[in-house]
Amino acid sequence: MNHFLDIHKTDRAALRAMIDQAGRAKAARAGRPKGAADDDQPLAGRMVALIFEKPSTRTRVSFDVGVRQMGGQTMVLSGSDMQLGHGETIADTARVLSRYVDMIMIRTFDEAVLYEMAEYADVPVINGLTDRSHPCQIMADILTFEEHRGPIKGKKVVWTGDGNNVCASFLHAAGQFGFDLTFTGPAQLDPESDFIGFARDQGSTVQIERDPFKAVENADLVVADTWVSMHDAQSSRERRHNMLRAYQVNEKLMAAAKPDALFMHCLPAHRGQEVTSAVMDGPQSVIFDEAENRLHAQKAIMRWCLGA
Ligand code: CP
Ligand code: NVA
Repeated sequence: MNHFLDIHKTDRAALRAMIDQAGRAKAARAGRPKGAADDDQPLAGRMVALIFEKPSTRTRVSFDVGVRQMGGQTMVLSGSDMQLGHGETIADTARVLSRYVDMIMIRTFDEAVLYEMAEYADVPVINGLTDRSHPCQIMADILTFEEHRGPIKGKKVVWTGDGNNVCASFLHAAGQFGFDLTFTGPAQLDPESDFIGFARDQGSTVQIERDPFKAVENADLVVADTWVSMHDAQSSRERRHNMLRAYQVNEKLMAAAKPDALFMHCLPAHRGQEVTSAVMDGPQSVIFDEAENRLHAQKAIMRWCLGA
C-alpha cells in the first residue's frame, strides 16, 4: 500500500513510472467517450472517498471520473458535513473510513491533517491539495510538458508571483525530475527555504530573480497561479495585488522567454490579474491540456497507490 502525500516524499522511479503509465493509458483511450470504461478495470470493486474541506472543480471532477473509468465507485464528501468538521479526531475518522472504503483522497488546509490521516488509515491516502503543496497538479503538469516538448529533465521552469503551495510542489518536482526552477516574485512571498533546499540537494539549480523579465530569459516553461490562494486571508487581497502586479504574465513577458516556451496555470485563473487573456488563450498556453491531464495523472497515481 502506498500513500501519495508529496512529490519529495515519493520514490523517484515510481514518480517516473506514473507519468509514463499515464501517457500510455491516455493514448489507449484516445477518442473514446469520457464515460467509457477502460479496457482493464483496475479499480473494479473499489470504493474511493473524496473529501473536500476547500472548494474544487478540477480535482473533484477528475478524481470522480478517473475512478469510474477504472471501474471503481466514489463518494464525494464535504469536510464540513462530516463529524471531522465537528470535533471527531482525524485518527478516528481515518480508522472508520478505512472500514468502508479502499482509498481516501483529501483536500484540506493544514497538511498535518493529511499526514495524520495517512498515519491512521489502513488504506492509501492521496493529497488533493493542502496549504503547503499540490502534488497531483504538478504530476499533471509534467505529463503536459512532456507531451508537448519531450523530457522535462534539464529544462528551465520559471514560477511567477506567489511562492505558494503549487510552487512548492514544482520545487519538489524539480528535485525529483531533474529540472531547474527560477522563482520570480516579491521577497515577502518567497517559497519556503526547505523546499528550495530539497531541489538543490538533488542537484537542481534554483534561482531567485526579482526582475520578471530577467527571470524568464531562456525559459522553457512559464507558470502563474492566483495571487490569493484559498488559504490566504481575504483581508490580504489588496496588499498581495499591490506586491504582485509587476509579475503579471502578459504577452510582453512571454516574449522575453524562449520563443517556444509554454505557459501553464493550474486554474482557476483570474484573467487580467496574474495572467492576461491574450496569454491564456494564446498559442503558448497549454492550460486546458493541464486540466485534462489531472485525470490521466491521477489515474496513474491511484493505480500505484493500490498496486493495481
Ligand atoms: N487546479 C485545481 O486543483 O483546481 P480545483 O481547485 O478546481 O480542483
Ligand atoms: N494556490 C491555489 C491553487 C488552487 C488550485 C490555492 O491554493 O488556492
